[in-house]
Amino acid sequence: MIKRRGLMKKDKSIESLLKVEEVYEPPKEFREKAWVKDESIYEKAEKDWIAFWDEIARTEVEWFEPYKKVLDDSNAPFYKWFIGGKINITHNCLDRHVKTWRKNKAAIIWQGEPENDKRVITYYELYRRVCRFANALKNLGVRKGDRVTIYMGMVPELVVAMLACARIGAIHSVVFGGFSSMALRDRINDAKAKVVITMDGFYRRGKIVETKKIVDEALEDAPSVEHVIVYDRLGLDVNMVEDRDFWWDDVQYGSSWKCEPEVMDSEDPLFILYTSGTTGKPKGVLHVHGGYNVGTHITTKWIFDIKDDDIYWCTADIGWITGHSYVVYGPLSNGATVLMYEGAPDYPKPDRWWSIIEYYGVTVFYTAPTAIRYFMRLGEEWPKKHDLSSLRLLGTVGEPINPEAWKWYYRVIGGERCPIVDTWWQTETGMIMITPLPGVTKLKPGSATKPFPGIKAEVWDDEGNPCPPNVGGKLVITRPWPSMLRTLWGDPDRYIKTYWSAFEGKLVYFTGDGAKIDEDGYFWIMGRIDDVLNVSGHRLGTMELESVLVAHKAVSEAAVIGKPHDIKGEVPVAFVVLKDGYEPSVELKRELREWVRKKIGPIATPEEIIFVTKLPKTRSGKIMRRLLRAVLAGQPLGDVTTLEDEKALEEIKKSYEELK
Ligand code: WT7
Repeated sequence: MIKRRGLMKKDKSIESLLKVEEVYEPPKEFREKAWVKDESIYEKAEKDWIAFWDEIARTEVEWFEPYKKVLDDSNAPFYKWFIGGKINITHNCLDRHVKTWRKNKAAIIWQGEPENDKRVITYYELYRRVCRFANALKNLGVRKGDRVTIYMGMVPELVVAMLACARIGAIHSVVFGGFSSMALRDRINDAKAKVVITMDGFYRRGKIVETKKIVDEALEDAPSVEHVIVYDRLGLDVNMVEDRDFWWDDVQYGSSWKCEPEVMDSEDPLFILYTSGTTGKPKGVLHVHGGYNVGTHITTKWIFDIKDDDIYWCTADIGWITGHSYVVYGPLSNGATVLMYEGAPDYPKPDRWWSIIEYYGVTVFYTAPTAIRYFMRLGEEWPKKHDLSSLRLLGTVGEPINPEAWKWYYRVIGGERCPIVDTWWQTETGMIMITPLPGVTKLKPGSATKPFPGIKAEVWDDEGNPCPPNVGGKLVITRPWPSMLRTLWGDPDRYIKTYWSAFEGKLVYFTGDGAKIDEDGYFWIMGRIDDVLNVSGHRLGTMELESVLVAHKAVSEAAVIGKPHDIKGEVPVAFVVLKDGYEPSVELKRELREWVRKKIGPIATPEEIIFVTKLPKTRSGKIMRRLLRAVLAGQPLGDVTTLEDEKALEEIKKSYEELK
């Protein structure tokens, strides 16, 4: 009882801090033209969520044969959707568009890192290339159900390779081009891939990443692989193993430009995508043709309000789920024009992204909070050099966005004209789950707002009871959804254990995230559960502390972790990156501790402030708080394969040693 009262009290104080007075209404002109302009869609979906998904599935994508039943939950949590339906996602991404005026519409606008490397690929050309490459895969012996690992940089051939696999029913496993040879090898072996598709190399920050070399190292111990296909991006002199390795052009030379899509069952696998879990071994998340097509299609259409004259740019690498769902499948299923950029955001200059938006007239832009904070630190003068008035809608994904960063994004990039969709979802969910609908949802900076129509999300306490408003708990999804993962590749037990076993006797999907719901029903994601601190029985989201720190004029980025404490259980420790023009000092430390104390309350005062120049992040930009905790505890670091830059960690160790 006492604990609970404490909890509510604390949450109130945080609430008052994070309570953003401003609520942003959807602009009238936006609403008038939006796909969704009437909030009654939520009610309609709630009234009969099965009927809701049924209608979308029947009307938004094409089936070779209609399904007989929407949902089969007889073997839950192994749910099945659109039972008996026959489909191929590439039919919806290609064939159906080339039958219309979209035939000559740009499907992909590609910008290489070097300024003059530009290509535009129409829907018809993409269709032809996919068909021809699909035939080449068949000629190499790839059959329905075989696994193909794809390890490439951001070039259109990566999209061709994925769609070609899907077209013939092979299961692709795209491995992010920034992963090491060891990580690649693990993923190839776990999937037992028959073929690897790669390239000689690609550009990153003016340097060449020698992709094929990394593949060669990975293949030193990967017995399932029979062939390697190498796309020649740079004309590098690479090692080609006779009879095993083929050049992209050679392998399809003379193949037909026609290839009918394999007729797939709704539930046939489309791809595996590996993501990190709490243990070292990566999890192979499995998605299927039918439900994934339906889920990514409708979320792209409604959340990004995709229209035929949009130039849509999602900055994610295709090696992550965001790239799969919102660079490739969702937009192409909608017949959208997708911009794809090969290189680094700040190369050769910090205005590279803004210059791309201006040059191509990008209208819808989707990126991550970490990027926004980075550009915030570099200063407004860089975006200000460019005319960004083509933009009409902005999005973010990947982590909670600090209200500070949200407002900067809204003002400096969106010109106070563009709604921001803060989209919460996961590799496992396949599609966006909690998000505004830009034409109808009022926005509160820092909140992902409400579950997508048809989705039911709740916040539960440890016993599985819904938490009262503004009280933090576990974010769960209490109803299946079409694009949900079907299992973990080769490990159905782990699937049940990881996602469906958090509450005894209750079969709900546990997200791994903490969240709270405010009095308006808005969701505030607090980050992964293991990022929630417990200080003297009070729950504190690391995100809440970080937001406060970042709101200080001297702070660019902050990561907060819990350090074990004899009496309080845990105390917060903050790693802080300063803005240019500020120097670490004892005074500044004191000031920041006082700042947090004032903004949240004594309970939240960081025990320590440690100044660093860089935070340890995954290649997808998430702060690896686990590593920070290990450094503080003097424990082994465990798996660091997803770390972006090992130097960051060395520096942190040093700063901490000095402190002691
Ligand atoms: C985790 C999933 C799917 C997008 C890329 C990441 C965090 C994602 C948000 C958001 C707060 C977010 C969650 C989630 N997350 N989007 N809008 N607000 N947190 O995919 O690698 O599978 O990570 O990212 O913690 O569980 P992922």
